[in-house]
Amino acid sequence: MNHPDITEVVLSEQQLKERVAQMGSQIAQDYAGKDLVVVTILRGGAIFATDLVRAIDLPLELDFMAVSSYGNSTTSSGRVRILKDLSSSIEGKHVLIAEDILDTGITLSHLIAVLGHRNPASIEIAALLKKQGTQKVDISCKYVGFDCPDAFIVGYGLDYAERYRNLPYIGVLDPKVYA
Ligand code: IMP
Ligand code: MG
Repeated sequence: MNHPDITEVVLSEQQLKERVAQMGSQIAQDYAGKDLVVVTILRGGAIFATDLVRAIDLPLELDFMAVSSYGNSTTSSGRVRILKDLSSSIEGKHVLIAEDILDTGITLSHLIAVLGHRNPASIEIAALLKKQGTQKVDISCKYVGFDCPDAFIVGYGLDYAERYRNLPYIGVLDPKVYA
């Protein structure tokens, strides 16, 4: 399936499927016997998270959260504003945040601080993608699907102006779209 706005496919549907399955079985090993809640960050993380949970062969909870960053995302002073909070308590539970892409890491680092105050047993991150060399804060991801170059990519949850999230693969968006 080709899209006229995509100049290059970075990760095919098959590559995504295989890697998400691997991540799921690793997570299932690591969290066996633990009270696991997978927290999805809307909207970008939703497609990854819903595929990931189906690859984790354990009892788990799936919960959703929407956040936005205040102010200039190039400074680390921004706070995260909760647009939609979790539906259930995470107290005593092992939280795994499923995020589409780790870029500066600023949003996630603030989110971890917020969730940390709710006394979970642990908080870890599963990021499908990690951009190389763009992290502005020190953030450790327990699970990373793929390292990716610092290009503007869309698909499999990632958007440009809320579009392209439904592409089943990840590709580089033609700069003429946002020029
Ligand atoms: P940060 O890590 O706080 O800078 O924010 C990461 C968020 O920025 C991700 O959850 C995406 O929503 C968005 N983002 C970063 N890079 C890209 C990209 O290449 N395409 C689409 N969205 C991106
Ligand atoms: Mg996002």
